[in-house]
Amino acid sequence: MTAFLRLLAYARVHRGLIAGAGVAMVFYGAASAAVAWLIKPIVDEVLPAQERLGFVVVTLLVAYLAKGIGAYFSSYLMDDIGQRVVLQLRSDLFRHLLNQSAAFFAGRTTGQLLSRISNDVGQVQRAVAETVGDFARESLALVGYAGLLFYYDAKLALVCMTAAPLIVYPLVRLGKRVRTVTRWSQEALEYMSHVAAEAFSGHRIVKAFGAEAREAARFDVAARGLYRSNMKVTRVLAVLPPFMEFLGGVAIAGALTYGTREIASGRLTAGEFTLFVAALLLMYGPIKKLSRVNANLQQAMAAAERIFELLDVHTEVTQAADAAPLPSFHDRIVFHDVAFAYNDGEGRHALRGVSFTVQAGQMVAIVGRSGAGKSTLVNLLPRFYDVTGGAISIDGRDVRALTLASLRAQIGIVTQETMLFDDTVAHNIAFGVPEASAAQIEAAACAAHAHEFIVQLPQGYQTTIGERGQRLSGGQRQRLAIARALLKNSPLLILDEATSALDSESERLVQEALSTLLQNRTSFVIAHRLSTVRRADVIIVLEHGRVVELGRHDDLLARPDGAYARLHQLELVDDGSLGGPSTASGAAAEGERP
Ligand SMILES: Nc1ncnc2c1ncn2[C@@H]1O[C@H](COP(=O)(O)OP(=O)(O)O)[C@@H](O)[C@H]1O
Ligand SMILES: [Mg+2]
Repeated sequence: MTAFLRLLAYARVHRGLIAGAGVAMVFYGAASAAVAWLIKPIVDEVLPAQERLGFVVVTLLVAYLAKGIGAYFSSYLMDDIGQRVVLQLRSDLFRHLLNQSAAFFAGRTTGQLLSRISNDVGQVQRAVAETVGDFARESLALVGYAGLLFYYDAKLALVCMTAAPLIVYPLVRLGKRVRTVTRWSQEALEYMSHVAAEAFSGHRIVKAFGAEAREAARFDVAARGLYRSNMKVTRVLAVLPPFMEFLGGVAIAGALTYGTREIASGRLTAGEFTLFVAALLLMYGPIKKLSRVNANLQQAMAAAERIFELLDVHTEVTQAADAAPLPSFHDRIVFHDVAFAYNDGEGRHALRGVSFTVQAGQMVAIVGRSGAGKSTLVNLLPRFYDVTGGAISIDGRDVRALTLASLRAQIGIVTQETMLFDDTVAHNIAFGVPEASAAQIEAAACAAHAHEFIVQLPQGYQTTIGERGQRLSGGQRQRLAIARALLKNSPLLILDEATSALDSESERLVQEALSTLLQNRTSFVIAHRLSTVRRADVIIVLEHGRVVELGRHDDLLARPDGAYARLHQLELVDDGSLGGPSTASGAAAEGERP
């Protein structure tokens, strides 16, 4: 019921359209009754005595014309309302989902979310447009017919109406069942979308591991599940027409039995009786449609509930009511006893007791084994996640007291898994600064050493690079991501293994670009290359989410049994100029992960 009221709230804004549809429906209902009303003069006057033929014919034509016009505008306007409701629902849902936290997305798949936005919303649209329109229009026609029946013979009309409660109860029962099975069917559809989306986005891995048959079988299972639940829906819905047909037969049989006696006793004319039976027959159409209304409505409700469920999930990183914009960063960033645990039910801490201070203009290198918490640490700064203990402050202001937009506007990010869009090279570089000029885009690309390969592409800067930049190599993607961050030109920069997918030669080039970039900026750099790390003003060594060492390269290396010295020996901090880039190849393969 609440889902229904909430849907209604979406429709209420279109009052004008609703009023227009209402007028069209009244037209339709009145015209329907007029057609039925003509049956009496046809049977009693036109047919036996050829009287009033002209009047009847003209009225008949006008009534049908009015009925047609009413039907056209009411269904057109109702559909418009349905489409508008769905339009709003879709954009609300999209906006809402996009604002959810990283944890929300980690717990759901793209396929599932897509299914809600396309399938569930579509289900609501179909049901709303058909159902509500049918309901209002056919009820009005029904009222018209019933009015005629009562006008000519209230007793006979009442006899026919006693069947009504007999219809309602089974329809309500049926509706409940429809809602349940529709929900199953939407769930099955969602699962199938998920399986397909996963296999398509991971197509390379599927092929590399020869898992095509297994994935196809998985899809078949999902598709068959959908078939089964759809058939459950059909089984329930298919009961309706024969059921209604049978009840119609019962009503006519009753009217015939009673009516024959009435004519014999002279209380009804043949014309009146024919009108009566005809009106009953005419009522059958609207009643059949009305009987579907509840079932359709229940289908819409099942889908609407799933939509509102998502709309009611609130995992947004919330902006405080009194959040203030962050003025241009100029002083320091302080991590004060920061703790963080992913909300994965295990309660393990990914970070604990992390404290350090970074002065504006400094470069911080974060080193540690994989899984130590390096990425987690830098994700806290733009508030992809909020700390679960302690605090992070920028220029003395807690990041949670800042507006998200102003905070994120000052942070540039390049990660190991570059995210590019299926758009042109130029638009991908200008993603953070849509108004950038071609010259600015090119300058950023040159600084990131991307210009050389971009001009070799078929359409240069206007080349479309495919979903997630599939048409580029890992190193090329990463250079585009660096160009994108360069163009944004933010005072704070986060590089999370940003150069890991580059070969030594391009890395050397990009390092040069980065070193100029880093000079007048504050940066958090996660890297394995000694050449990068040794330049840092502060090196933070993380182990199992704790800061075990903190200092400059020479000091840390001088500690005989220190963690940094150990990492150095293990070549987790290695020098790219010697031998091959041991981390680069591994990271590049990982970058292929969907
Ligand atoms: N979304 C997540 N949900 C739950 N645990 C996570 C998530 N992301 C990372 N972790 C866990 O947090 C720890 C630190 O991960 P991460 O910061 O990515 O390490 P690093 O970047 O140092 O390799 C790891 O144990 C990892 O398994
Ligand atoms: Mg990481």
